[in-house]
Amino acid sequence: MSEIISVRAREILDSRGDPTIETEVTLISGVIGKASVPSGKSTGRFEAVELRDDDKKRFKGKGVLIAVRNVNDTIADAVIGMDSYNQFAIDKEMIELDGTANKSKIGANAILSVSLAVAVASAEELGIPIYKYIGGIGGHILPVPLFNILNGGAHSDSGLDIQEFIILPAGAQNFSEALRWGSEIFHTLHDILKKDGYSVSVGDEGGFAPRLKNGEAAISYIKKAIEEAGFHPGDDVFIGLDCAASSFFKEGLYRYEGKQMSSENMIDYYGELVGKYPIISIEDALSEEDWDGWVKLTEHLGGRVQLIGDDLYATNPERLRKGINLSASNAILIKLNQIGTLTETMRTIELAKRNGFHAIVSHRSGETADTFISHLVVGMNTGEIKAGASSRGERVEKYNELLRIEEDLGENATYAGKEMFRQFIEK
Ligand code: PGA
Ligand code: ZN
Repeated sequence: MSEIISVRAREILDSRGDPTIETEVTLISGVIGKASVPSGKSTGRFEAVELRDDDKKRFKGKGVLIAVRNVNDTIADAVIGMDSYNQFAIDKEMIELDGTANKSKIGANAILSVSLAVAVASAEELGIPIYKYIGGIGGHILPVPLFNILNGGAHSDSGLDIQEFIILPAGAQNFSEALRWGSEIFHTLHDILKKDGYSVSVGDEGGFAPRLKNGEAAISYIKKAIEEAGFHPGDDVFIGLDCAASSFFKEGLYRYEGKQMSSENMIDYYGELVGKYPIISIEDALSEEDWDGWVKLTEHLGGRVQLIGDDLYATNPERLRKGINLSASNAILIKLNQIGTLTETMRTIELAKRNGFHAIVSHRSGETADTFISHLVVGMNTGEIKAGASSRGERVEKYNELLRIEEDLGENATYAGKEMFRQFIEK
């Protein structure tokens, strides 16, 4: 038994300078576990609720003092005295205390901060890294990083409708080499954009935000950067997109690059891009409401491309089950704060894996220096992580933690690499 004796939350700032919540859980031994939670901007409709004060006099209504109070009073009263090793019972207790389907009463931010801090404290109590607490002796797969090196959509003012243009250095030998390749391509892209007179300031997730003509121009710049950095696109390094299409879906149509497109039009467009560029992964290609479109998309491109549902599933097992039954995609993005507890997140990952879906562990556009997701991805062996570009402290810290984990695992570390994508590339 490792008894919880205190639970304390505070309001801190995230990478955009907006408030978020940080919680410390103290065990009877004196060990303290600390965790903070991220915040999205292109938030899906089906996500658990991030509780904000709505007090316009503080932080333009974005304060989280009510969530902090909910941790310090309601949650603390319920979990003090419980065994920190019993993560499931603690998460269940908080879910029941809240009582709503979307954690809107206590707040998913409040609940998640405690859920994660409990796990961090437990690992510390045992004297093992968090990834080993989560994965035991089984957790050893270092993920392929999905580096978002060019930011559009809600994350920058580049004017590009597609939110994220991504590189996947799957052909590297190990994670540290993948990180080096990502950094080298990022800097090469910097030089090419600068030479052509574009801005090289970065967006929320650390990628560049140039005002390019359209999405295809961004993809072609990235392909050029991969080549000029000395790598082979489609062999060493692949390209990915996160379209965040819910953000440009209105009244049944996609308002994309000045045109009004049906799901079929969008699928044809993606098909053309996949034919021309080494695109191996597309996230939220269609809206979170467009199940029929997703089914058609998967029929057309599911054999060649990893099709990730982010807003579509919101890390929710019920929505994922629907997607599995319909064959609506072949992958799911995993964000802890979309569902609100560690054990629910782990179960969603297991459900995905049991059904042959890829599970990509992800940061949010508003982040803190917390590196829990680096441990989650290795502990759960999901093989892919999305944590922004190899730039901006809050992004890089996730990747640096993976370097430390790789070192800690030593010979036991296995890089997920190209094998992760065999179904799409070995034809
Ligand atoms: P968000 O974006 O954190 O702003 O929701 C990330 C994503 O869409 O994957
Ligand atoms: Zn997304």
